[in-house]
Amino acid sequence: MSKRYTVTAALPYANGAIHIGHLAGVYIPADIYVRYLRLQKKEVIYICGSDEHGAAISIKAKKENKTPKQIIDKYHKMIKESLIEFGITFDNYSRTSKEIHRETAQEFFIDLYKKNILEEKETEQLYDEEANQFLADRFVIGTCPFCENEEAYGDQCEKCGNTLSTTDLKNPKSIISGSTPVVKKTKHWFLPLNNYQDFIEDWILKTHQKDWKPNVYGQVKSWLTLKLKPRAVTRDLNWGIKVPLETAKGKVLYVWFDAPIGYISATKEWAQKNNVDWKPFWQDEETTLVHFIGKDNIVFHCIIFPCILKAKGNYILPKNVPANEFLNLENKKLSTSKNWAVWLHEYLQDFPNQQDVLRYTLISNAPETKDSNFTWADLQVKNNNELVAILGNFINRVVVLIHKYYNGEVPSIGNPDKIDTATMEHSKNLIRKVEDQIESFHYRGALQSAMDIARLGNKYLADQEPWKLIKTTPERVSTIMNTSIQIVAKLSIVLSPFLPFTAEKIQTILNIKSLDWKTAKDTFSIIEEKHLINKPTLLFQRIEDEVIQEQLDKLKQ
Ligand code: 2FM
Ligand code: ZN
Repeated sequence: MSKRYTVTAALPYANGAIHIGHLAGVYIPADIYVRYLRLQKKEVIYICGSDEHGAAISIKAKKENKTPKQIIDKYHKMIKESLIEFGITFDNYSRTSKEIHRETAQEFFIDLYKKNILEEKETEQLYDEEANQFLADRFVIGTCPFCENEEAYGDQCEKCGNTLSTTDLKNPKSIISGSTPVVKKTKHWFLPLNNYQDFIEDWILKTHQKDWKPNVYGQVKSWLTLKLKPRAVTRDLNWGIKVPLETAKGKVLYVWFDAPIGYISATKEWAQKNNVDWKPFWQDEETTLVHFIGKDNIVFHCIIFPCILKAKGNYILPKNVPANEFLNLENKKLSTSKNWAVWLHEYLQDFPNQQDVLRYTLISNAPETKDSNFTWADLQVKNNNELVAILGNFINRVVVLIHKYYNGEVPSIGNPDKIDTATMEHSKNLIRKVEDQIESFHYRGALQSAMDIARLGNKYLADQEPWKLIKTTPERVSTIMNTSIQIVAKLSIVLSPFLPFTAEKIQTILNIKSLDWKTAKDTFSIIEEKHLINKPTLLFQRIEDEVIQEQLDKLKQ
């Protein structure tokens, strides 16, 4: 393990609310990772913020009849508040409309410009003669030349995933006026990715075949096979960060040039607030940089941003980019425009204090290796049959019995026999497994292994049947209950990256706090003899059919 970690989660566009797809793909996995690293006592920052530039924002503003500023203010607040309430523990959630970000992004551009890395070229772009403006990327839709999807955007086809430029589209239409755009000349600055082909090949193809996810590695490889080409880093738009050149009036930085630099400016902002140096987090070879993203962001984080960092010089590159696939909802593609989504702010309203139920369901079904599916019926099953019946049940039985037999005072471990030590050894092995799985970004498996500790505890209690022995061999019961409460304590640590609210409740019941990962793994007796525990509280509640039906009805409205 490294000594320092910089963990980033893709900056969400401030043009809409957060839904379960964002959570499962990016924010929960990154949150598990950073919570785990903190338990390992590592120096770690979790960086994110709103992506507030680009055509996506202007388009939304047009739709809602508002200014772009009104749009970003509205959604930035909503996104930030809902993620924090959901227990996503960012060290800084910033936004790209901040001054510190403008400065940082412009400084990157000017540096590359002065080093003559950027190429200035006259290009042909689509122009809307009715609206009198150039049409960048998302302002144009048309037919994808690869898969014939008629609703492909000017920069990407969401159906086949291919990256496009506006002039590749067949039958292009301006989304501003609906008219057919004309081709017009305009000047732009290009990052010559072609000069970085060898760099990316050496760095990713040669060294990361084993440790990067196959979907990420595969996408990079296919880009390289097609050969990298120069890519414009400026746009003709009136919303964005101004290109800091006299000769670039009316032009702004391409949103995909400025957005990832947002990770750096958000780090600077955090460092200023905390009176520390931001540089080690981005420039020290001993820092592990990890970007959590969705699969549609792979090229930007594995090729374009690394080339920008390489061109700038002195920056570290990501050690891993664990991109996830997509999450479907009730077997259909999530869609913001069709309102086919479970929105985080609505979930928080409908299920108060039940963040962990959604976290659990989304992690169990995370789209780690292929697209996966969320259904309300599955959330109910996971809650009732796993959280209530396995986890809640085990912890409740242990706590209730300790109150019943010993008035809440943890009994002595006495003389553990083979089965007791074997059970503890088994739990230790499971914790090691969780650790390996978290470090290799396999969160579904990691959660299963953590739950196996609860299963182990349930089986141990059921086999040992302390309730049958309390009259005849109370010393034996004392050993069984001590062993059981140690397993509960271990669970409260190991589960905390996944189910932080529940873990905290368990630690309140146990009357313990701030335990680290090493304690969970290596300490046999976390809770000492005679320690007083609190009365049990409800950890999970059954979810009834009506509640699920209501959500299904709401979705279909
Ligand atoms: O795809 C998106 O939602 C983008 N807003 C992600 C940006 S990530 C980064 F580079 F900032
Ligand atoms: Zn396509």
